[in-house]
Amino acid sequence: MAESKREKIAIIGSGMIGHCWATLFLGGGYQVCMYDISQDRVDAALNAVQFKLNKLKDEGLLHGTLSIEERLANLSTTTDLQECLAGAIYAQESAVEDLQLKTDLFMKIDSLTGPDTILASSTSTLAPSKFTENLKHRENCLVVHPVNPPVYCPLTELIPAPWTKPAVVDITYSLMTAIGQSPIKLTREVDGFAINRLQYAILAEAWRMVHSGVISTADVNKVISEGLGLRWAFYGPLEVSHMNADGIKHHNERYGPGVIRVLNDFGPTPTFFEPETLEKIASDLNQKIPVEKLAAHRAWREHQLGAIAQLKRKLAKEKPADL
Ligand SMILES: NC(=O)c1ccc[n+]([C@@H]2O[C@H](COP(=O)([O-])OP(=O)(O)OC[C@H]3O[C@@H](n4cnc5c(N)ncnc54)[C@H](O)[C@@H]3O)[C@@H](O)[C@H]2O)c1
Ligand SMILES: *[C@@H]1O[C@H](CO)[C@@H](O)[C@H](O)[C@H]1NC(C)=O
Repeated sequence: MAESKREKIAIIGSGMIGHCWATLFLGGGYQVCMYDISQDRVDAALNAVQFKLNKLKDEGLLHGTLSIEERLANLSTTTDLQECLAGAIYAQESAVEDLQLKTDLFMKIDSLTGPDTILASSTSTLAPSKFTENLKHRENCLVVHPVNPPVYCPLTELIPAPWTKPAVVDITYSLMTAIGQSPIKLTREVDGFAINRLQYAILAEAWRMVHSGVISTADVNKVISEGLGLRWAFYGPLEVSHMNADGIKHHNERYGPGVIRVLNDFGPTPTFFEPETLEKIASDLNQKIPVEKLAAHRAWREHQLGAIAQLKRKLAKEKPADL
């Protein structure tokens, strides 16, 4: 189906996130052009896509039916932004996270595209209204924010600016589904979007508990990696509440007052700058994950995430028909 499309996708910025987007769009049968600011970077991105395609194939996780050779034949690179955008139906910007850079880049992209190209940014922290307000085609702009590494974490949040056309969100949603991602839609901009609001709520409490000496750095991490995170790979927090009692209403009757009591016990927003606590957390983390070994740990994390992706696929197939 998707493989019959003869449509082009522009990847603008081909680093850690951009090359993953290219890998994913190739799986939808699209023609993909990767742009970056130097020949070295586009060459590195091309190697990275080849590596990812082979790895995903080995893991049985390649989305779509094209062979690796066919996918690579649909891929091109350029250091010319105009060439990258020519004829593209959709552009995914994944340049470095910098408001001024994205503002300037979107001005250029806007001037090089017509009314029918969707302009998406991978930004983790910048609301789309911050860098699209004065564009000619601002109704075509939105944030399409992935989870790193997007080839193993399919969640992708779509955030419209106040002026984004609803159809642009809908088309992008279908496009994400077609390349094997799991899109979610926010109805409007909110700082941190959905992913980081949830992530930072947990980060804040982890920091508070270590700062106040209630728990060690190692143990607070274990709460997630050996406990909550295991369930969360399959069910979200509201579903967990629903399942931990006889439905969410029963959960609220039984545990609601306790939840409120604990929430009221949370302290003020931590500043994350108390030097002693930061020193302690950094030294604890460095024992398990020394900074000079970060790259190796990241690679190992990717490997483990690949194994979880495989497991989730297998389990989805085994799911009882009456569930
Ligand atoms: N890394 C993550 O965990 C993560 C997760 C989700 C979203 N994001 C977002 O993705 C975007 C890219 O992040 P990354 O981690 O891939 O960074 P990265 O540093 O790996 O890649 C950024 C790339 O942008 C290129 N670039 C610099 N200036 C450019 C320009 N003017 N035009 C086009 N390309 C340019 C760089 O050469 C580099 O290749 C950021 O907006 C970031 O917030 C990152
Ligand atoms: C991608 O490659 C396949 C197989 O060669 C081809 O059928 C398809 O048309 C290509 N996609 C595009 C958009 O050119």
